[in-house]
Amino acid sequence: MPPSAVPDVAAASLAAALTTPAAPHDHPLDHLSLGKIVQIRERLLAAQAAGKRVYRFESGDPSFAPPAHVIDAITQAAHAGKTHYVPNNGIPELRRALARKVAEKNGLTSATADDIFVTNGAMHALFVAFGALLLPGDEVIIPDPMWTEVAENIRLAGAVPVGVPLRADADYAYRVDDIRGAITPRTAAIFLNTPHNPTGAVLSRDALAGILELARAHDLWIVSDEAYEDVIYAPHVHHSIGALARPDERRVVSIFSFSKSHAMSGLRTGYIVTNDPVLHDRIPKLLRCTINGVNSVAQWAALAAITGSDRHIVEMREVYHERRDTMLRALTGIPGVRPFAPRGAFYVWAELDPSVYERLEVADADALATMLADQGIGSAPGDAFGNSCSDALRFAFSCDTTMVREGSVLLREALT
Ligand SMILES: Cc1ncc(COP(=O)(O)O)c(C=O)c1O
Repeated sequence: MPPSAVPDVAAASLAAALTTPAAPHDHPLDHLSLGKIVQIRERLLAAQAAGKRVYRFESGDPSFAPPAHVIDAITQAAHAGKTHYVPNNGIPELRRALARKVAEKNGLTSATADDIFVTNGAMHALFVAFGALLLPGDEVIIPDPMWTEVAENIRLAGAVPVGVPLRADADYAYRVDDIRGAITPRTAAIFLNTPHNPTGAVLSRDALAGILELARAHDLWIVSDEAYEDVIYAPHVHHSIGALARPDERRVVSIFSFSKSHAMSGLRTGYIVTNDPVLHDRIPKLLRCTINGVNSVAQWAALAAITGSDRHIVEMREVYHERRDTMLRALTGIPGVRPFAPRGAFYVWAELDPSVYERLEVADADALATMLADQGIGSAPGDAFGNSCSDALRFAFSCDTTMVREGSVLLREALT
């Protein structure tokens, strides 16, 4: 090639690059959405900016402050210079304390500090657990409806979420027979969440034992999301499926969070418990390459939370109970609206008859959520949570009590 041709070729290809549109490509992230709840939140914030009072029933962020001893621990850690890199899997003090906590409180009696992996909230725990467990094409059975990010994290691992519809006439139980019916040769894991977001259903010990038996029979992993373990209403109690597994059994991966139990949602601290040696090897690699250890002061705060008084949990539950009843009363007796009394978590899930859409002159639950948002009332439309539940709305009562009281009155008016 004559030397003079070189600049011509370069100029020609640069011109082509500038004039030809980028080749279309299919990236896995293009199939994930930031979610309908975010859109509703944006409408609410716009209404708020326009001077309207808004009622934040669309998202589940505890209104409480973390307990005082947790805040003190943050300040002390910062002043003591505990602001440097920390061990990848979590500070040893916290991992030891969490091993004691899950043994005593959750019945995971054989857990040791080596079985604990501190994550950037339960959200990140899901990302890490699914990333460490799954291969592209694997299937994971999940409840439908289910908090959206579970399915998205399964997809991020290249795997496929397979929803098992939960039904109002079965109190939204995640039933063994339905799960069994969803198992295929590609099923790798059963995911469960108790207390459940969005319905507030709670799995009994017997139900968990049935799911564990099924997983044994088909040699499946179990991923158990227990982020709401402390937000539960008597007489219901929280059971951890890991407590039912044999000490030498390695199939249960348990996920916990400080966000709801200690109102530490912004401190982004959660943890995975697993005794599986392969996961012990894989999880640190994902932790290393995603966060390289959770924020140091948040970990010292988490240590204070787990070792200090947990009196606030009882108080918090009482307040949530009162808010729950306020919201339930407001939603009860409205024609075509069927709220479920949650047994745990802080959401009221209400299924809707089409007659509601006719009465309110909207096309569907999505449009209804938008209409409510324009009036300053947050909600999350059913189809944000799966494929089988588009005729429903979820209302969170984690915002402060005054907001729940005032907003519930307006919500009733808006739906009636
Ligand atoms: C069922 C469920 N799991 C996990 C999480 C994540 O919690 P965090 O990342 O704040 O610990 C949430 C948050 O709302 C949730 O609803």
